[in-house]
Amino acid sequence: MATGDLITGSDGGVMLKVGPWAKGKLFYIKRYCEIFNAGMKNKWPTRTYTDLFAGPGRCSIKETKEEIDGSPIIALSCRVPFTHYFFNEIESVAMKSLQTRAKGFDSVNISYFTKDCNKVIDELIEKLPSGSLDFCFIDPFNWQISFDSIRRLTKGRQMDLAITFHVGGMKRVANKPPKDLLAFFPDSSWQQEYKEARKVRRPAGRVLLDAYEQGLKDLGYGDIKDYVLETNSKHVPLYHLIFASKNPKGAEFWDKIAGRSETGQLRMSM
Ligand SMILES: C[S@@+](CC[C@H](N)C(=O)[O-])C[C@H]1O[C@@H](n2cnc3c(N)ncnc32)[C@H](O)[C@@H]1O
Repeated sequence: MATGDLITGSDGGVMLKVGPWAKGKLFYIKRYCEIFNAGMKNKWPTRTYTDLFAGPGRCSIKETKEEIDGSPIIALSCRVPFTHYFFNEIESVAMKSLQTRAKGFDSVNISYFTKDCNKVIDELIEKLPSGSLDFCFIDPFNWQISFDSIRRLTKGRQMDLAITFHVGGMKRVANKPPKDLLAFFPDSSWQQEYKEARKVRRPAGRVLLDAYEQGLKDLGYGDIKDYVLETNSKHVPLYHLIFASKNPKGAEFWDKIAGRSETGQLRMSM
């Protein structure tokens, strides 16, 4: 189990230590939550937010020590809120802090789970309301979520997805993939293509992204975007944020909010 670096925050709860690139990720999540609810509230009275790797609700940027809200608190703070929230976090100490921090938001319906992301899926499927419009943020430390879990969670649902894709970490182990990385991908077809790309010096990270995104397309996600969150000193991507929707409206919203980074610069999807 990958656990994070937890430290005590100024409010006495635990916070997750994160790299500066997490700010960009959370910037997109905040803006998508806002546009999703404001744009869809009339057509979809029931809108859910699921955070499979919720964390404690507060983060500390390693280099600057700046404290910022984590994804569950960001989602709770929307001007037009979701109607239902589902927070899962495997670490009970982080979950306890999240529950304390979410106390100020008692007008909304929040369900908490302290399980492994793959083991919570059945319970989530049971609890998600029928006929809702859903947004699920999948923000693992690496590739803990199996593709089968994504398949089961999204089946028959209008569920937009945002997924942190750790391409740098994957490339470090892709030649001899561990079991959980194999389960992360929809199938094993990427392995051969990955080896060939390495041989001819084609961008191998793109092979991984394409294989994953093809799996999402096969689940009905016709509109997929991926944005670079962080690169190394040679401008090779380390982290991407994948966005997927079954509805062109989702992609339209995403294009609107992702045109600029949190520093105001224009961003490229690649
Ligand atoms: C990158 S952090 C999430 C940060 C959060 N989304 C935010 O932006 O504030 C990943 C979280 O997943 C939790 N975690 C790690 N392995 C897990 C698993 N198998 N199932 C569920 N949660 C897990 C960690 O304890 C950590 O809090």
